[in-house]
Amino acid sequence: MIRIGLLGLGTVGQGVFEIVNERFLKTSNKEPIIITKVLVRDKSKKRSLQISDDLITENFDDIVNDKDIDIVVSVMGGMEPELTYIKRSLKAGKHVVTANKEIISRHIVDLLDLAKNNKVSLMFEAAVGGGIPIISSIIQILKTNKINRIQGILNGTTNYILTKITREKRQFDDVLKEAQKIGFAEADPTADIDGYDIMRKICILSSIAFKTVIDENNVHMRGIGNVTYEDIENAGKHGYIIKYLAQGLLHDDNKYSVSVTPILIKKASVISNVNEENNIILIQGDIIGEMCFIGKGAGKNATANAVVSDVLQVAAGINDYALLRFDSNALSCGIDGIQNEYYIRVSTENFDQFAKSIDIVYESVKKLKLSYSKGKIFFITEKIASSEMKNLYTKLTQCAHDVFYARMENNLM
Ligand SMILES: NC(=O)c1ccc[n+]([C@@H]2O[C@H](COP(=O)([O-])OP(=O)(O)OC[C@H]3O[C@@H](n4cnc5c(N)ncnc54)[C@H](OP(=O)(O)O)[C@@H]3O)[C@@H](O)[C@H]2O)c1
Repeated sequence: MIRIGLLGLGTVGQGVFEIVNERFLKTSNKEPIIITKVLVRDKSKKRSLQISDDLITENFDDIVNDKDIDIVVSVMGGMEPELTYIKRSLKAGKHVVTANKEIISRHIVDLLDLAKNNKVSLMFEAAVGGGIPIISSIIQILKTNKINRIQGILNGTTNYILTKITREKRQFDDVLKEAQKIGFAEADPTADIDGYDIMRKICILSSIAFKTVIDENNVHMRGIGNVTYEDIENAGKHGYIIKYLAQGLLHDDNKYSVSVTPILIKKASVISNVNEENNIILIQGDIIGEMCFIGKGAGKNATANAVVSDVLQVAAGINDYALLRFDSNALSCGIDGIQNEYYIRVSTENFDQFAKSIDIVYESVKKLKLSYSKGKIFFITEKIASSEMKNLYTKLTQCAHDVFYARMENNLM
C-alpha cells in the first residue's frame, strides 16, 4: 500500500483525488494507492467532489508528522507556504510530487539536492506542458543526445486568446474578458499575458536540457497584451500567423539564449496549427534530430494525469530525476547575436507622431515594406539584430501611442 498526503484540493488536487480513487485504490495487479490526508486552506468550503471530513485537515503537521505517508503530492500554488512544505516533506523522508512551476523554476537544484540527501524522489512532470510527458522525455533524450534547441507554445490561455482573435476577428480585451468569464483565464491574467508563466516553464525545460540553471533574469521576455486584430490581419496578408513562442537555444560556443516573445510564423508550419488551449514543444537533439510533442497544456485531467504518472514512478521505485545534472558552464549571451526580419505596428494619434515614426524607422532600417491605415503604420524590416530592434522599439514608444513588434520565423517546424 502506497499512502499519499495531498496538499491542495483545487483543480489539480481534485483531479488527482479522482484518478487515484477510481483507478488505483482497489487494484488486483498493482499495489493499491490511497490518499490518507488532504490539506486545504478552508475546511468549511463546499467541494464539488465527495470526500470524507476525516480526510481533510488545515494543519500541514498532520501530514508531515504522519509516519505512514510515503508521498506528498503538492498542488497548492504560489511560493509560500508551499516551498516550506515541500522542504519539510523531503527532510521528513517523504517523496514529493509537485505541479508548481514557480517553485521548481527558482529552486530546482536545491530541492533536487535536498531530495537526494534525504534519499527520496522529487518529481515535477506536471509543472510544464500539462499532460505532455515532456520532462521524462527530455531525461530520456539526454541519455544519448545533446539538446541544443527547445521551442514551443507553453501557455494554453494565451494560445486560446490568439486563436479566438484570429478566427473570430475580435480584439484582445474582448476575447480576454470572455476567457475570464468561462474560467479559461485567471481573474488576474498578468502571469499569462506578460509571459511569467511561460518564462518559468521555459526556464525549467532549458535548465534541464542545457544542464545549467537558467536565471529568470536572463530570459528575454515580452508580453502579448497589446496585439490587435489588425496585427493578426496584417500578418495573414503576408502568409503568417501570430503565436506566443518560448525558446531556449544552446549555441555552438556553449552560450545560451532564452526568450518568450510573440512571433510571426508561416501559416503552413506545425506550430501555426496548434490552436486553442493546446501546447506544442519542439526539441532538437544532436543525434535524434527534431521531435515534436503536442497535447493539452493545462486543465484538471491533463495535469492530474501527469501528477499521478509521477506518483506511479515513485511507487515503482523509479527515479529518473536523479539523473539530472546542472554542471555545464554554459553562460547566457542574451539575444543580441540573433538577426531576423521584424513586423512592426505603430499606432499614432496625429500627423506629427505619424511622420516622426516613419523617420525613426527609416533612420535605422534600409530595406522596408510599409503600409498604413487609419493612423497605424505597418512595417516589415529586412534582417536586423535583435538589439537594433530593441533600440528602435524604445525610440518609437517615445514618440507614438502604441507599438507592437514581433520577429518573423520562416524555418520553424
Ligand atoms: N490548473 C491547471 O490547469 C494547472 C496546470 C499546471 C500546473 N498547475 C499548478 O498546480 C498547482 C495547483 O493549481 P490549481 O489550479 O489546482 O490551484 P487551485 O484550484 O487554486 O487550488 C489550490 C488548492 O490549494 C489549497 N491551498 C492554497 N493555499 C493553501 C494554504 N496556504 N494552505 C492550505 N491549502 C492551501 C486550496 O485550498 P482551498 O480549497 O481551501 O481554498 C485549494 O484546494 C499550482 O502550482 C499550479 O500552477 C495547475
